[in-house]
Amino acid sequence: MPSAPLLVSALRGSAVPRPPIWLMRQAGRYLPEYRELRQRSGDFLRFCYTPELAAEATLQPIRRYELDAAILFCDILVVPDALGWPVTFAEGVGPRLEPLRDLAAMERLGLEGFAQRLAPVYAAIREVRRGLPDETALIGFAGAPWTLAAYMIEGGGSGEFYAARVLALHDPLAFAKLIDLLTEATARHLDAQIAAGVDVVQLFDSWAGILSAQAFESWCVAPAARIVSRLKTAWPKVPVIAFPRGAGVRYRDFLMAVPVDGLGLDTTVPLAWAREALAGVCLQGNLDPAALLAGGVVACREARRIVETMGARPFVFNLGHGVLPETDPAAVGALVDYVKSVRLPARAGP
Ligand code: CP3
Repeated sequence: MPSAPLLVSALRGSAVPRPPIWLMRQAGRYLPEYRELRQRSGDFLRFCYTPELAAEATLQPIRRYELDAAILFCDILVVPDALGWPVTFAEGVGPRLEPLRDLAAMERLGLEGFAQRLAPVYAAIREVRRGLPDETALIGFAGAPWTLAAYMIEGGGSGEFYAARVLALHDPLAFAKLIDLLTEATARHLDAQIAAGVDVVQLFDSWAGILSAQAFESWCVAPAARIVSRLKTAWPKVPVIAFPRGAGVRYRDFLMAVPVDGLGLDTTVPLAWAREALAGVCLQGNLDPAALLAGGVVACREARRIVETMGARPFVFNLGHGVLPETDPAAVGALVDYVKSVRLPARAGP
């Protein structure tokens, strides 16, 4: 029987000879082959919804670097789009949506036809699987309900998302309805990705860190607990990673309530603290994307500190956020080679 991909073993807490490595936004504009494909592919969402193109973009970084995992090329905002809240991507501006400022407009959202609209995403997964070596894991993903709601209410990226935070405070019952719908949609989307063949899923809560303590509990932790528990019931063997970016000391509260296998740490988290405070889970992270921007030598120096701090504890090497478009592809190559050269001391099994 073929052994599990290294990423899956690490997430299960099994002893591994070295930490697996993959990078958030490993497919993207820093790669010349991506820019070329993107130019031929037109509108960004059509690119995501065309299985051959999405599969090709997913495989590009794997061909170049032999990473331990591919992450499906798609976007978190396909979920609002498939719920009937259209998303567009303007060149150089990022996502644009009609701002959902009146929660009565939620009437326009619904799960009818949701799975059919996302069928091309699941077809892309099956296509990637065919082109992927057995030892390379395939990661599916979704945005968490709070981050999706934040983009929908704001109408795009903003950094602080005050409109969404105000709406949540102003009308918590209506806001909870939106979160409930997004929770259901996200659970279905991840479930369908697993059914189509991904080995691991990651839940991105990119804007968890801006929430007050109480809001973090209601809009980040509680929905994640529901989504992950549901996946764990349906697919007990499929590892789940959560990335509540910017959670700080609240990573611990998150972990107490959400039955994840892996926890993605953002760049600001001190690893020596995480190692002690976040027991019983595989940690993932957290090289500063700026270290990659600084070049291969700096990136490898910083990566070494991370690897030494984590020791033989279950760990997946990654960045603390996505690869930046200005990154030199050669720096990524140097980083991957370095992490693949690491040899961990033997550790007793689980
Ligand atoms: O390689 C991978 O990591 C897989 C693909 C992936 C994309 N987006 C492709 C993408 C993943 C996992 C995402 C997740 C995503 N999308 C998040 C969560 C992670 C994070 O970064 O916090 C968020 C918040 C989004 C929403 C989004 N999509 C924004 C804000 C933008 C514009 C900013 C930017 O970097 O361009 C996007 C566009 C986007 N998604 C691009 C890519 C490769 C760039 C589009 C282009 O080619 O022009």
